[in-house]
Amino acid sequence: MSQKKVSLTGVKPTQAPPHLGNYLGAIRPALRLADQFDGRYFIADYHALTSMRDPAALHASIYDVTATWLACGLDPKKTLLYRQSAIPEVFELAWILACVVATGQLERGHAYKAALDSGEAPNSGLLFYPVLMAADIVLFNTNVVPVGQDQKQHVELARDMAMRVNHLWGAGTLVVPEVFVSDAPLVPGLDGKKMSKSGGNSVPLFDDADALRRLVMKFTCGSEPLGAPKPSEGTPVFEIYKLVATDDEVKTMARKLAAGGYGWGHAKEDLCVALEREIGSKREAYRSLRADEAALDHVLAEGAAQARETARATMERVRGAVGIARS
Ligand code: TRP
Repeated sequence: MSQKKVSLTGVKPTQAPPHLGNYLGAIRPALRLADQFDGRYFIADYHALTSMRDPAALHASIYDVTATWLACGLDPKKTLLYRQSAIPEVFELAWILACVVATGQLERGHAYKAALDSGEAPNSGLLFYPVLMAADIVLFNTNVVPVGQDQKQHVELARDMAMRVNHLWGAGTLVVPEVFVSDAPLVPGLDGKKMSKSGGNSVPLFDDADALRRLVMKFTCGSEPLGAPKPSEGTPVFEIYKLVATDDEVKTMARKLAAGGYGWGHAKEDLCVALEREIGSKREAYRSLRADEAALDHVLAEGAAQARETARATMERVRGAVGIARS
């Protein structure tokens, strides 16, 4: 048995296809944790239903996300990869957790409050969202949950629910998870603000090299004359270059920008070369993986079969603890 801590992360299939910010800011840092933890990644497909109503788009997204993670280097032999919907125990445990969490705690949820504040009439799935997420987490005896700042509150709620269960039904019924806020870099978009799909400033990760180049040329930059010295730190082109170039290359670009005679067009060309080196082979891998949904289903089913072993054991323990066990 591995002595490593169990880490688990869910990815909601609503943002697919992925952009450069998803890759550099989330996917790559998460995959770098793969050796440190006994990792589990799952596609939170039922979570997506709080907002997605288009079955074809949801279906496509699930496979986009799966192919993306595999293409970016997730090794399903080392890291479990499965669909949430393949683990019925998640939904069974979610009910039990719902019975220990106060309605007020859910009403204070960020996502739910934000929806109310913007005048929407949120569905109850959005209110219940943190309960389902807590079940995703505690079902697998998860020790750490690597998430961005925006998901911290959800993981803290999961902690609360697990502690409450242990208090009511016995210490050790559930493993209490911890948040692991990863130091993911901020990836600037075309306009210099954080890259996001909704911001309309994103660069798709797996478009072909020409399309990538055309977009890189659109990154906002200064209008200094060619001969003038230019700043590097904080400029979108340089900040992204730092994430994909070697230390020497980064120093060289900073020096050239500072010296003058090297324009933003040159810097963008150098960025394209470094980006292509980082992404080129992944793009090819993505395309062949994405073209074979049956093969992706196979990977997901194998992950689910393994994940369910832990899920069944946890549910048996929990059912026994609460008094639902069949004798
Ligand atoms: N709520 C997460 C998001 O929107 C996705 C998610 C669902 C998740 N279940 C999870 C993340 C469990 C970590 C652990 O990004």
